[in-house]
Amino acid sequence: MPGDPLRAQWAAETFLEDAICVNRVRGMLGYTGTWRGNRVTIHGSGMGMPSLSIYANELIRDFGAKTLIRIGSCGAMQERIQLRDVIIAMTSTTLSTPSSGIFRELNFAPCADYGLLEAAVSAAKAKGITHHVGGIYSSDVFYDERPDLNEQMVRHGILGVEMEAAELYILAARHGVRALGVMTVSDHLLREEALPSEDREKSFGEMVEIALHAAFP
Ligand code: ADE
Repeated sequence: MPGDPLRAQWAAETFLEDAICVNRVRGMLGYTGTWRGNRVTIHGSGMGMPSLSIYANELIRDFGAKTLIRIGSCGAMQERIQLRDVIIAMTSTTLSTPSSGIFRELNFAPCADYGLLEAAVSAAKAKGITHHVGGIYSSDVFYDERPDLNEQMVRHGILGVEMEAAELYILAARHGVRALGVMTVSDHLLREEALPSEDREKSFGEMVEIALHAAFP
């Protein structure tokens, strides 16, 4: 599940065999095909947890998806992390998610499926892709007016910020399926750097490969 529907189209055309478009409602493209004989759907999530929640819920509840992997971008929050590095999210911290209402005073800890995480790490190692494994922050805002929150994330070793993984992990837990988030670093919050758009396609392709190898090791 990439955030951008056009990335779903590009990934399906580039990596899948016999891919057919299975969804284009509101422009949220989804494609089903095969990779090495395994049936795979690559479906956009849109940006932010409310959008992802719609598509992940429907993929799980209406179409029986058992393994959901987010492939997207994130902003780095640690000095040692460089642009283009891959972050594999073990857990995700949030201020709130679409599921906060049902947890009420509980702070549920959204966490990745360990088997998927281990397989993604192996795939990244095999391909020589620089990667970091740890906690991320799933934020509700891209243009954050509260830099103090980001400072606390940095201080507590959070690797990067994006906007979808936590709710994916929560939905997977609720429905007894597997989930993982694999993100390429597109910008750096401590150094005000950003990846030029021409570099993004190559990095995105590497993530698709990591995700496919993780799903079918
Ligand atoms: N996705 C990519 N970069 C991001 C950032 N800086 N904040 C939130 N989501 C992001």
